[in-house]
Amino acid sequence: MTLSDSFGRVHSDLRISLTDRCSLRCTYCMPADGVPWLPRDSMLSTEELVRVARVGVEAGIRAIRLTGGEPLLRPDVVDVVAALAALRGPHGAPELSLTTNALRLPELAAPLREAGLSRVNISLDTLRPDRFKELTRRDKFDETIAGIEAAREAGLSPIKLNTVAMYGVNDDEIVDLARFAVERGLHLRFIEQMPLDPGHTWDRQRMVTAGDIIAALEAEWTLTPAEDRGSAPAQRYLLDGGPATVGVIASVTAPFCGACDRLRLTADGQLRNCLFARTETDVRAALRSGGTDAQIDAAIRECLAGKKAGHGIGDPEFRQPDRPMSAIGG
Ligand code: 5AD
Ligand code: SF4
Repeated sequence: MTLSDSFGRVHSDLRISLTDRCSLRCTYCMPADGVPWLPRDSMLSTEELVRVARVGVEAGIRAIRLTGGEPLLRPDVVDVVAALAALRGPHGAPELSLTTNALRLPELAAPLREAGLSRVNISLDTLRPDRFKELTRRDKFDETIAGIEAAREAGLSPIKLNTVAMYGVNDDEIVDLARFAVERGLHLRFIEQMPLDPGHTWDRQRMVTAGDIIAALEAEWTLTPAEDRGSAPAQRYLLDGGPATVGVIASVTAPFCGACDRLRLTADGQLRNCLFARTETDVRAALRSGGTDAQIDAAIRECLAGKKAGHGIGDPEFRQPDRPMSAIGG
């Protein structure tokens, strides 16, 4: 039986957070001192998380994305990928991708590809080293670029770049970032910032909208919407008729919740039906008390049954999730 929620949305995408630790401290994600890390003994072992993934794949999960924190900080990340690549469900092997800050890609891109990873999404919010240092609180711009190069050399393809557009921070770099990506054959997507920041300073009025992003790009190129969107969150635009494209993810102004097919597993074994969920389903308890595969499957379905129609950002009763973004997974 497929993994459906009460709105009939069939879920085929599982996002697994491998750790809540990170090697950067992006201001929109973490406070300067970091956050209280998840206790080690609460974190799922590789065997445990692969088991949840196996039950999910057997129930219809087709794609698995590894996130964090920074997933490449997990010491056995290559083994995790290899174990997930060996899973088989009614749709065959899951497609494996990973969202990363790229810092460990120089040493890991090739082994990850060999282990069965097909794609990476790399976060890049600025091309200016001084700004990078301010935004991430770490002086690691050159290492990030080296990581992007390493992913290309290892043949991970396509490489997507994620850029959170922020008013007064990087909104003057929209054209530069798009050009950087186009020149290297990378697929850049600008993302509207969602209210997930630790300081709760997000303000709808000061958000860079998809409309603002498109207007900035139109100063340089003629944009034509690409037609193959499907259920993808990004609307892609051909630049001057293509083949180059840039994507825009209007997570706030045009949410794609109606087509959402995502389910999340946190590093400490909690299933979440949405980034903004206010409740979680504890699958760790089932794993650690001798639970059967059927019980894990039931936990997944219970989690999905409570999924709301949408994130509700903008509703008067909206509240940010209690977990920091780094402990949810992007
Ligand atoms: N809004 C939108 N995207 C975000 N990300 C992190 N925080 C936010 C936010 N508040 C994105 C980053 C990263 C991915 C894991 O999630 O761009 O690439
Ligand atoms: Fe899915 Fe929640 Fe994201 Fe909407 S906000 S797309 S429901 S995970």
